[in-house]
Amino acid sequence: MSKEVWGYHEHPKRREPDWEINPQTAAVREGLARSGFGETSEALYLNSGFTYANSQEAVDSFTDETDHFLYSRFHNPTVAMFEKRLAAIEGAEHCVATGSGMAAMFVSLACLVEAGDHIVASAAMFSSCHVVITEILPKWGITYELVKANDKAAWEKALTKPTKAVFIETPSNPLLEIVYIRFVSDLAHKVGATVIVDNVMASPVLQKPLELGADVVMYSATKHIDGQGRVLAGALLGSFEYIYEKLIPFTRHTGPSLSAFNAWVLVKSLETMELRVTRMCENAQKLAEFLETRKEIKSVRYPGLASHPDREVIKKQMKAGGTTIGIVALSISLIILVIANH
Ligand SMILES: Cc1ncc(COP(=O)(O)O)c(C=O)c1O
Repeated sequence: MSKEVWGYHEHPKRREPDWEINPQTAAVREGLARSGFGETSEALYLNSGFTYANSQEAVDSFTDETDHFLYSRFHNPTVAMFEKRLAAIEGAEHCVATGSGMAAMFVSLACLVEAGDHIVASAAMFSSCHVVITEILPKWGITYELVKANDKAAWEKALTKPTKAVFIETPSNPLLEIVYIRFVSDLAHKVGATVIVDNVMASPVLQKPLELGADVVMYSATKHIDGQGRVLAGALLGSFEYIYEKLIPFTRHTGPSLSAFNAWVLVKSLETMELRVTRMCENAQKLAEFLETRKEIKSVRYPGLASHPDREVIKKQMKAGGTTIGIVALSISLIILVIANH
């Protein structure tokens, strides 16, 4: 067995993204660590612990003197393949995978805040994220303010006071409201806040929050990253400082880890993500344009339509309109009828 296998997981040391690699190539290549048996595709390491050649190697491993997987709550070779591949696609220094999107969302904030801290978030948020910010964290003395997604003046006003973290979701689920990531990030940094973007609805294919000034990107990998309804998972991506100095010291002991099996499913999902999301966007764009012409439909909201109220911001930060359409009609059966007849 090659000794190199043990050196695969990178312990705290800075890793610059390799900009030479095209994200679509990274999606099928990056992160692959062969076991030494020469397997063609990524191996599935369904083990909780790891062995050591001798007691000295065990001591060195547990004191971080040497690179060695220790325990799958901390890291696991298959999970590391997923993290490395997603980081390469996102253009992030590092990634930590979690057991669900909500685990990622919760730890993204919990690793930063303490009693007395303040969080500013966009009011348009996925329901469980809303509960974490407005009900769970306040029980531990963390205050919050919610701001209307596209209200620039309200963001300016909210981000005048000291703020530990800004949490935004854009486009939002399900109302497809848009936050201007560059604008909010610039304001947030002036008051010392870490900007976390829930990029679930856009996916790494359509929007790159780190390039737009954000500090941390959060995913429910359950959505576009798996995209096939098989597993729950989440991920956080960001700088060396955030991942190794804030996040890992928290997740290592609180245990929101991703299972190796689910990571293995996701490693393969990443290979097709760009193709799937691109096709879904093309279909959604055509469908949204069609629905807009129908008198049975009261209104259509889709980031790819000129009628979206934040179209100018969308053009600055998203590559396409996304995979989800919002429709207001007199009844659901009417929408089904209109689509079915075409
Ligand atoms: C925008 C957004 N954030 C977070 C989540 C939570 O992800 P999970 O269901 O993987 O915990 C979801 C799930 O639908 C979501 O749509």
